[in-house]
Amino acid sequence: MNTTETIAGLRFCLSTAGKVRQGFVPTMGALHHGHIALVERAVNECGRVTVSIFVNPTQFNDKRDLDRYPRTVDRDKEMLSRVLRENDVVFLPSVMEIYPGEDKRVFDFGNLGRVMEGEYRPGHFNGVAQVVSRLFDIVKPDVAYFGEKDFQQLAVIKALAEKTGQRVEIVGCPTVRESDGLAMSSRNALLTPEHRAAAPVIYHAMLGSQNLFLEKGKEAAREFFTGKIGEVDGFRVQYYEITDDTDLVPADYASDMIKGRNYHICVAVYAGGVRLIDNVRISLE
Ligand code: PAJ
Repeated sequence: MNTTETIAGLRFCLSTAGKVRQGFVPTMGALHHGHIALVERAVNECGRVTVSIFVNPTQFNDKRDLDRYPRTVDRDKEMLSRVLRENDVVFLPSVMEIYPGEDKRVFDFGNLGRVMEGEYRPGHFNGVAQVVSRLFDIVKPDVAYFGEKDFQQLAVIKALAEKTGQRVEIVGCPTVRESDGLAMSSRNALLTPEHRAAAPVIYHAMLGSQNLFLEKGKEAAREFFTGKIGEVDGFRVQYYEITDDTDLVPADYASDMIKGRNYHICVAVYAGGVRLIDNVRISLE
């Protein structure tokens, strides 16, 4: 694989591709098997793959979160070298390379950008849209891969691709979990051993709340979820919502669910000072 820190270097690497399907996997590093699953899929489906590693300052509404975001570049490169091919590229730009001047663009995603993460992390999706549109401009991929773990981000990126007219296909990939059910996340490395041991409750309580929602509605399901999370010392629920995966319109009762759409339970939980998000699709079988 090739490694480059500059746009010029990336363009040079990509110019030698010829006519192949160009795949792209943007990341913020501290890679785990969730990221690697996206990269493997891209490698299977594309003649050339670019993986970016860039901790994007404009999407962190909390400066402390940015400062302590895990950075493990040597390990990341090692992991990628096991799945990428000779002609694939790892792009590791500096902040100056991506933002030579302040990015003042403001994106409006309507309801998509206002609910859930949008409500609790103001400015977050604007920053995500800034960096992803910038990276799309630089890499010019035919197809880009994103995880369903970041459910709302995936919906926002699909809207972004449509809005900017960028000709890129957006592919969503299933959430990869640890064997105990905890969704893999770079932030898991920040958990205390006690909180890491307790964290699978997030996934299991979401699954456990599903039938309550279908039978009694969201409030009953949320109460159950909040109760289970509250049993762990230091855990706190920030939100528990149920929405479809296209417009993120909330469903308070099963009867609100629009036929033909997929609905997910989406949660944000503080484990001590570490904020974790997760979601599961509601299965109607
Ligand atoms: P990051 O958190 O590094 O995630 C990079 C990609 O990996 C995202 O598409 C995310 O949804 C996916 N991912 C993370 N954990 C996953 C898991 N357990 N299973 C499957 N996929 C998973 O998301 C970002 O970075 C940034 O916001 C970014 C899009 C790179 C823009 O800065």
